[in-house]
Amino acid sequence: MLAELKEKNLYRIRKEISQRKNINYCYNGKHYLSFCSNDYLGLSHDLRVINAFKHGAERYGVGSTASAMISGYTTAHRELEEQFADYLQRDKAIFFASGYMANLGVMKVFADRHDLIYQDKLNHASLLDAAKLSNAKLKRYKHLDMSHLTSLIENSTAKNKLIAAEGVYSMAGDISPLPELVKIAKNSNALLMIDDAHGIGILGKNGCGTVEHFSLSQHDVPILVCPLGKALGGVGGIVAGNSDLIEQVLQLARTYTYTTNAAPAMACALLASLQIIKTESWRRQKLMENINYFKQGIKQRELPYLNSETAIQSIIIGTEKDTCALSDELLKKEILVYPVRPPTVPRNTSRLRITLSCEHNVRQIDYLLDSLLEAYNNVLSNNR
Ligand SMILES: Cc1ncc(COP(=O)(O)O)c(C=O)c1O
Repeated sequence: MLAELKEKNLYRIRKEISQRKNINYCYNGKHYLSFCSNDYLGLSHDLRVINAFKHGAERYGVGSTASAMISGYTTAHRELEEQFADYLQRDKAIFFASGYMANLGVMKVFADRHDLIYQDKLNHASLLDAAKLSNAKLKRYKHLDMSHLTSLIENSTAKNKLIAAEGVYSMAGDISPLPELVKIAKNSNALLMIDDAHGIGILGKNGCGTVEHFSLSQHDVPILVCPLGKALGGVGGIVAGNSDLIEQVLQLARTYTYTTNAAPAMACALLASLQIIKTESWRRQKLMENINYFKQGIKQRELPYLNSETAIQSIIIGTEKDTCALSDELLKKEILVYPVRPPTVPRNTSRLRITLSCEHNVRQIDYLLDSLLEAYNNVLSNNR
């Protein structure tokens, strides 16, 4: 199995980062400029967030020491849940140890073997695994294709239906057509669940994500999952919705009950991150400037790109071999960009997934683009 993975260029090697400061990573004794983290607003390294984490550890200890149902639920967890509910304009929220656990736990609460789940073909692994765990029948519609979803749903006789999509797609950066999803869900009496891992903190006037971007509400998108390891710079996942719905999750989600609760210090750090997101809109503005600058530059250099308005800017290369070779070429230029390959993305769509942060400057983006152009010409001309 391992030999086959290697032969197919699908073998994964973890890069051991020995130190990190914002977008500067130390790897193998050398310094690299990162374009592959999801820390879009630079909060994982903000001193206020770090200090909140330290104070949280001093007050509560490092681990939460038990499940939330036993003694692992603290004032910090409650405050985080309340502040997120308020920020997202929802009745209630619940804080899971990770976004993956949130998706697994929530979907199983709202779907069982009698039900039907509809998912975008490119949904994140955690949503697909959640459907498997629920034992519901899973139907996948073509990426962002609302007429395909409509035709699948029209033919269904299932009583309970759930539609799950991402707000911003993690591997391409494109945005779900939420207003249309809302309409389809309402017309077919399906429950709509949106995973906004890459929209929270980024999209919308206040950074409340894809739901705010489209001026929608809790009524339109009843289940909102916000993994907090990206723009919030921490670890965990918030699920927000109406009181009854969140109470059901609290009572029934197995990935909430049967696991050690998230570290209280993490809740403290995330409270600090949330405060910054609410008050420092310049971070979002700077990120948007960087996105526009990158897009302009990639067009000028006539490199292929996917049309994305978000921090995720992918370049589809195709083969695993070329994608890895390109990533290696960039490494030689002290740039970290991750080669994304199947099964994370569909076959023949291996890509360089470039992520921008508000901490990059135009000089660094130019350096990335020039290096990319050179690497692209080298690798692809070598192959011809
Ligand atoms: C769309 C999406 N959903 C869920 C997750 C899982 O979240 P977490 O990393 O908090 O487990 C991720 C990324 O990891 C993601 O990109």
